[in-house]
Amino acid sequence: MRTEANITYGEQIRLAYEYIHSLYAESLEVGIILGTGLGQLIDNIEIELEIPYEEIPFFPVSTVESHKGKLIFGKLSGKSVVAMQGRFHYYEGYSMKEVTFPVRVMKLLGIQHLFVSNAAGGLNPDFGIGELMIINDHIDLFPENPLRGKNLDQFGVRFPDMSEPYDLRLIEKALQIGKRNNVKLHQGVYAAVQGPNLETKAEYKYLRTIGGDAIGMSTIPEVIVARHMELPVFAISAITDLCSPGNIKKVRIEEVLAAAAKAEPGMSLIIRELVQEL
Ligand code: HPA
Repeated sequence: MRTEANITYGEQIRLAYEYIHSLYAESLEVGIILGTGLGQLIDNIEIELEIPYEEIPFFPVSTVESHKGKLIFGKLSGKSVVAMQGRFHYYEGYSMKEVTFPVRVMKLLGIQHLFVSNAAGGLNPDFGIGELMIINDHIDLFPENPLRGKNLDQFGVRFPDMSEPYDLRLIEKALQIGKRNNVKLHQGVYAAVQGPNLETKAEYKYLRTIGGDAIGMSTIPEVIVARHMELPVFAISAITDLCSPGNIKKVRIEEVLAAAAKAEPGMSLIIRELVQEL
């Protein structure tokens, strides 16, 4: 008999996919991962099915949050989407293979685009709280890589290209949508660290010096795995605190959430319209 211990990661992904596919057979177009305080986009989805993470074989669940994490299936701007309500952060203790497991499963479910949002600190002095930054490149400072270990040949190559992780066509369309709708959009480089502590002043200075415009603790693992599978990616940050010299103050989670709430309507609009234009 097969025990859990000898089921490979690739098989676990397939079993999770088969379970979901048995409940929801429609092919999906877009996968969406929403960041801290940025879950309101879900209100725009005509929900057809919700599956709690704990019901999905091999899906990571945290003991604390298992009751609220779920996959949401439905229509957004007329397109079939799956959205993650609750994402997995490395700082919570998940391995990178766990953090990115849902992206593999979503790919098997047929998604052709991945949309990711996050809350981030603004390193670029031109950024204001509650503003949006389209991610056009990234700097990976995590201590672990989701692709480390035996390559999953069924999904992609050993040494995936990372010269253009964020789809330029989608960025261009998003900029046009922003212009049309008076939503201010910055573009820039997202750097990610493991957290969970925020950064020292010297670290913020370093992150800016190496080319970061925004700093966070997520997104890059999911993007790496999506690009391993050659999925086009669109990612956007809500700037929730300022980390440029002279602007640094103690970060309080309540303020981060308030800033995310301020950024939310613009972000939802960009994603909704972008999904419509796919
Ligand atoms: N640093 C790291 N991650 C963050 C920050 C920050 O200042 N703000 C929101 N997420």
